[in-house]
Amino acid sequence: MVGAAAGALAACTEPAPAPAPVTPMRFPDGFVWGAATSAYQVEGAAKEDGRGESIWDRFSHSPGLVRNGDTGDVATDHYHRYAQDVALMAELGLKSYRFSISWPRIQPTGSGPVNQKGLDFYKRLVEALRQRGIAPMATLFHWDLPQALQDAGGWESRDVAGRFGDYAAIVYDALGDVVPTFLTLNEPKTVVNVGYIYGVHAPGIMSSAKAWVAAHHLMLAHGLAVQALRASGKKAKVGPALNLNPVYPAQDAARAAAELRDGFENRFWLDAVLKGAYPKDVLDEIAKRSPMADHVRDGDLKTISAPIDLLGVQYYNPIYVDANSRDVLLHPTSEAPWQQLYPQGLQDILGQVKRGYGDVPLVVTENGIATPDRLGAGDTVDDQARVAFLREHLAAAHRAITEGVELIGYHAWSLMDNFEWAEGYGQRWGLVYIDYPTQRRVLKSSARWYSSVIRTNALA
Ligand code: GCO
Repeated sequence: MVGAAAGALAACTEPAPAPAPVTPMRFPDGFVWGAATSAYQVEGAAKEDGRGESIWDRFSHSPGLVRNGDTGDVATDHYHRYAQDVALMAELGLKSYRFSISWPRIQPTGSGPVNQKGLDFYKRLVEALRQRGIAPMATLFHWDLPQALQDAGGWESRDVAGRFGDYAAIVYDALGDVVPTFLTLNEPKTVVNVGYIYGVHAPGIMSSAKAWVAAHHLMLAHGLAVQALRASGKKAKVGPALNLNPVYPAQDAARAAAELRDGFENRFWLDAVLKGAYPKDVLDEIAKRSPMADHVRDGDLKTISAPIDLLGVQYYNPIYVDANSRDVLLHPTSEAPWQQLYPQGLQDILGQVKRGYGDVPLVVTENGIATPDRLGAGDTVDDQARVAFLREHLAAAHRAITEGVELIGYHAWSLMDNFEWAEGYGQRWGLVYIDYPTQRRVLKSSARWYSSVIRTNALA
């Protein structure tokens, strides 16, 4: 009371002090600001120019597997509208566009001769990006495996890993001089968990036994694709894109459970790539469920740990476990019920990678939120929840940089609304709104906000 009264008195007699200047959080010069998409989620043109069938074509056309029976047949028609989309990226000031290459466009059955028309699409896209000064970042595998390879055993078959190395070599040969960065696999963990264990994504398997065999072959495929880049002599950089989740014990008694879960969520993938070994605690658990170990041959881990140039980190949510290893919800979720919102988790996971694995350059290759966006008056989409999400996550990324993490870039998921896998078009994740009946693109408030962050290279 006394203090407040004295303050009030002072206010009467002295000029009010100027408000402390708010220091904007500046990002390092050259920080790479981008946005991401993936082939099956945006391209459409599913049967055009010789594209083969992928497991997502087969899955989405199977009744009851995708909400509303949605498919990627048309998606956001990016295949035909890429020039308009690149112009939009330029308007936003993006420095990088992360897209994926559809393997069945390049090799319709996953092996054999190249489908030149498919390759030409990516050449046109990359050329359009370069003309606008936007760096292309190409993911080689974002889940759309050629169906013919699934019929031959999919990722359970070691042969498929070898085919992936061949396909990667074709892409490097065609694009390795004009694409500065390649990402090998997108989220192999999601393929294993959601595609093979839960069966909610293609190929819809539902078997832990098969899942971990597939996991090893996915990792082998990653290593073979890294080796293929070095063998090509191209100067491009390469690394995987891993979805990582900081795991926290929900109570003291859950520390051991959280440590093991961290093994499944993070260490299994990171240790293999960056240490050349799968973690023993995780292998022991896997051995109870899967004959994976029988499929690991001498030299495989050396291939898997071929040196990478950068690590793509995708962060969406933390995981909390109780002492019985069950997941616990501690924060509100987005429109996606699996997505607890916890921005601090991004700083934590980036710090965990630095502490555990040293200074491999990191780039956030995905981070985003599903929100219930509606087209409003005057062609506006006021997605303030996405603005808040991006602001808080970028602040967390900035704190990581301040504490010494070598974070070189950030890609929002996604550039535009798109086919959200088993959720179809029901969830919207984009900076740009897609009016699906007309394919009109409308900048959301978040796109305008992100654009101002890019232009100032800072968070106000
Ligand atoms: C992922 C994906 C995206 C999803 C996004 C939202 O890698 O999980 O790359 O395809 O759309 O994560 O769920």
